[in-house]
Amino acid sequence: MSDIQQLVYASRATFQPTDNGGGVEPEVARILMQSRRNNPRRGLVGALYYGDGCFFQCLEGPQGEIDKLYEQLMKDPRHRDLTVLRRQFIGNTSFAGWSMKYVPAATDVQTLLALHGKDRFDPYSFDNALLDAMVTLLHHRSEGDGLNPMPPAAVGARPGKPVPAVQPAASRRSLGTRLVWVALAIAAVAVAAFLLR
Ligand SMILES: Cc1cc2nc3c(=O)[nH]c(=O)nc-3n(C[C@H](O)[C@H](O)[C@H](O)COP(=O)(O)O)c2cc1C
Repeated sequence: MSDIQQLVYASRATFQPTDNGGGVEPEVARILMQSRRNNPRRGLVGALYYGDGCFFQCLEGPQGEIDKLYEQLMKDPRHRDLTVLRRQFIGNTSFAGWSMKYVPAATDVQTLLALHGKDRFDPYSFDNALLDAMVTLLHHRSEGDGLNPMPPAAVGARPGKPVPAVQPAASRRSLGTRLVWVALAIAAVAVAAFLLR
């Protein structure tokens, strides 16, 4: 049987959120840097979500390495109330290539929560269906929506694998601006089509 496990856990951040205009929390950025430096040499991959003061992390890799990291995680003062939501053997890692993908709090997560009758991110209350849906969202959510790729060498990635990193809030704003321009262009074409009919 495969020795590769998937571990999904929830925890509560112990630090206060900073008023950084919607950018990535500095403490979360530090955690991502550490994860991206350490995980490749341990054969670990995964994704991290942070929202409403809670972490939701999916880790995948050899069972022994998952055990060792979880021991470390339990001693990390930046979070508390660690609760394993799921632990299972999997054939292959499903986050291959992501030493630690970061999915920022965004509308699609709010939509998912609303579909399940929740108004805030409280992973401790997730049932199996919502847990599955959240892991699926972590898989499919493109970091391109909010995060820019960083040169793999800068974040300790395995060669040839894309490892996205934290993008400053300003770059996220420029994506929003581009979306507004696209929406305006579509509206202009619609108006022109209406007038020329
Ligand atoms: C929510 C959360 C998630 C973390 N995820 C990882 C991780 O995936 N990999 C990792 O090496 N450290 C992770 N850490 C940090 C570890 O707890 C620990 O500080 C780190 O592994 C120590 O690494 P160092 O010996 O290189 O300083 C995480 C910490 C928190 C609070």
